[in-house]
Amino acid sequence: MTRKIFTIVIILAGLILGAYFFMRSNDTVLAINDRGKALYNQYCASCHGVDGKGGGYVVPALKKAPPDLTRIPFENGKFPSLRIHQYIAGEVTIAAHGEKDMPVWGMIFRRKYDNTKKELDIFAITRYIESIQQK
Ligand code: HEC
Repeated sequence: MTRKIFTIVIILAGLILGAYFFMRSNDTVLAINDRGKALYNQYCASCHGVDGKGGGYVVPALKKAPPDLTRIPFENGKFPSLRIHQYIAGEVTIAAHGEKDMPVWGMIFRRKYDNTKKELDIFAITRYIESIQQK
C-alpha cells in the first residue's frame, strides 16, 4: 500500500516538474519573440517597413530598395536562419556583394553591449523575421 502511494507521489512530482519546465521554456520562447519584434521596430522598420515589406520612410534616400523580408527565399524547404543571422551581423564579408546600403548591425550591437548579447539579439531578430514569413 505505501509503495503504491509512493509511486503515485513520484509520478505527480514528475508531472508537476515537467509542466513547470515546459511553461518556463515557453516563456523563454515568448520573451525571445517579443524582443525580436521590439528590436526590429527599433532598428529595422525605418527601411524595411513596420510590416517588413520594404516600405520604410528612409527608403527614398537609399540607393537600393530594401527587399521584402516577409518573403525570404527558403533553402532546401527551410527558412535560412543561419544565412539571415550572418547577413544581419554583416561581419562575414562577401567580396561580390560590393558596397552595402544595409548597416553592419553586428558591429553596432557589439559596441552597444557585448558579443553574447549581440548574438542573442540577432538570434531574436532572425526568429522574428522567420515568424513573419508568408507562405
Ligand atoms: C538604412 C536602411 C536599412 C536598415 C536600417 C536595415 N536594412 Fe536590411 N537591407 C537594406 C537594404 C538596402 C538591403 C538590400 C541589400 C543591400 O543593398 O544592402 C537590405 C537587406 C536585408 C536582408 C537580406 C535579405 C535577403 O534575402 O538576403 C536582411 C535579412 C535584412 N536586410 C535585415 C535587416 C534587419 C534585421 C535590420 C535591423 C537590425 C535591417 N535590415 C535594417 C536596408 C536596411
